[in-house]
Amino acid sequence: MLHTLVFSDIPALIAIENEVHAHPWTAEAFEICFKAGYSGFGMKKDEQFVGFIILALGAEECHILNLGTARAYQHQGVGTQLLLYALQHAKFYGARIAYLEVRASNVHAIALYRKVNFFPTGIRKGYYQTATGHEDASMFTCEL
Ligand SMILES: CC(C)(COP(=O)(O)OP(=O)(O)OC[C@H]1O[C@@H](n2cnc3c(N)ncnc32)[C@H](O)[C@@H]1OP(=O)(O)O)[C@@H](O)C(=O)NCCC(=O)NCCS
Repeated sequence: MLHTLVFSDIPALIAIENEVHAHPWTAEAFEICFKAGYSGFGMKKDEQFVGFIILALGAEECHILNLGTARAYQHQGVGTQLLLYALQHAKFYGARIAYLEVRASNVHAIALYRKVNFFPTGIRKGYYQTATGHEDASMFTCEL
């Protein structure tokens, strides 16, 4: 079931974030998003969050800021449902395009984005930190 995220969901989001990202967002990063009024949706199974998405809307654009599915629930359609719901929400509120950055090495996420009609628009050199240095971000856009 999909839920609109609220400030008190942050600990549950951090639990997923820490499980799935080598360089996870901090609590402060989530707090900044809620304080800024960004939109967020979470998927619950058995009363527990198993995935979430956070997006910023403005100027007819939707920036997908974060997306994660708890490891035990990956590759079961959660990410697709969250992303499609977020894009529908963004379109309803006037967005004409959605865009995002993803680690160039993140083949699973890139497969998901391509599946829902995002196409690559470029590279941001050394955008992300890695254990040993930096890696490029691939930029993707989707027309809504
Ligand atoms: C990327 C991520 C959000 C996908 O979520 P998910 O719930 O597993 O996604 P879905 O089950 O809806 O899968 C959608 C597509 O992603 C790809 N994919 C997801 N997991 C995969 C896996 N383990 N192996 C191969 N492809 C995979 C497939 O193309 C899949 O489509 P398919 O089911 O038709 O094969 C999830 O893997 C994740 O949380 N990863 C770590 C965090 C992350 O990378 N976030 C994105 C940052 S930009």
